[in-house]
Amino acid sequence: SEDCSARFSTAIIVPYRKREEQLHAFLTYMHNYLRQQRIHYRIFLVEQYDQKPFNRAKLFNIGSVIAAELEFPCLILHDVDLFPMNLGQLYACTQKPRHMSSALDIFRFTLPYRGLFGGVVAIRTHQYRFINGMSNLFEGWGGEDDDFFNRLYSHKIDICRFEPSCSTYTMMRHKPEKRNEARLGL
Ligand code: UDP
Ligand code: BGC
Ligand code: MN
Repeated sequence: SEDCSARFSTAIIVPYRKREEQLHAFLTYMHNYLRQQRIHYRIFLVEQYDQKPFNRAKLFNIGSVIAAELEFPCLILHDVDLFPMNLGQLYACTQKPRHMSSALDIFRFTLPYRGLFGGVVAIRTHQYRFINGMSNLFEGWGGEDDDFFNRLYSHKIDICRFEPSCSTYTMMRHKPEKRNEARLGL
């Protein structure tokens, strides 16, 4: 009704290239899931449309600028192949940036290492801006999420997670991407 407004407004940013089957499943599943959470949201699909190595971080940076222009206060940085299995993982920002996909089926629902900060992350738009977003230098698979974690740490911004029972996700299976051998050096 007219006097009913959502409590949270969220920009969901999805980096994307050539994952058609996953994208279809993602949109179908997420629109249903998010409707049940009764939040205001918009999904920003940011597509890399060239043959160069995939740059996940740069796509998030692009999406964050557009979401900021539209005055979304909260960003959720989201892999296209991850599906929340529990409605308790509210698609809204906590005060601290939050690692949302911390109980992932392919990792047997446990966190492989303390600093894992990939998959799905919620962060306030001003915090993302404050740390100057993610690095544009990571091409191909790996490392950009670890660098993101380190950026927050070096700006003294703590992260958080919900308990595992609210953080279960499943990943659609796919072939592994070519690793970026330069990732550790970067
Ligand atoms: N991605 C994509 N096309 C690619 C590579 C990656 O769309 O060719 C996006 C997609 O959102 C994917 C995310 O980047 O979920 C992370 O890549 P990937 O799933 O290969 O990494 P994983 O987390 O499975 O190691
Ligand atoms: C990579 C990360 C990746 C993680 C889990 C790490 O070795 O650097 O980018 O998210 O493994 O797959
Ligand atoms: Mn994946």
